[in-house]
Amino acid sequence: MSGKVLSFLLLLSGTLRGEIPNLNDGIYSKAQAEDGAELYATYCAHCHLPGFYVNLETTWEGMSVLDFYYKISGSMPADRPRILTQSQYLKIVAWILAVNGFPSGNKPMLLNNNLGLIKFKFGSK
Ligand code: HEC
Repeated sequence: MSGKVLSFLLLLSGTLRGEIPNLNDGIYSKAQAEDGAELYATYCAHCHLPGFYVNLETTWEGMSVLDFYYKISGSMPADRPRILTQSQYLKIVAWILAVNGFPSGNKPMLLNNNLGLIKFKFGSK
């Protein structure tokens, strides 16, 4: 096997073995969360008081960010389900993560399968 192919394979296996992404890695951008705060005030706040998120711990422990995204994008706002765009729902999720004390990072959160690997773990914050 040529050296080039070998080093490519090593690189690839390194990526595949890479750390499972974590909610404390900063998986959304600050700008997303800021936009999300406004969207939340417009579309969600009349039903969910801020104290609502106390429940996040008990209901969402062990579930993934992707599950959370689908719950919100599939059924919320309960009075007008699915009226927002994918990017708007991502912003709202970013804001909810921010409110729950998870840090922002350099890159915006995108909808992809990686989000399915990122699990809520409140005990280890
Ligand atoms: C008209 C009232 C209403 C609005 C507006 C609304 N919700 Fe809800 N929401 C509910 C009700 C009722 C439930 C419980 C039933 C259910 O889970 O579907 C709920 C459940 C949820 C849950 C699941 C809670 C859990 O612990 O499992 C999340 C998350 C959520 N809402 C987020 C949002 C977000 C984000 C928005 C804004 C985009 C929003 N909701 C807008 C009424 C509302």
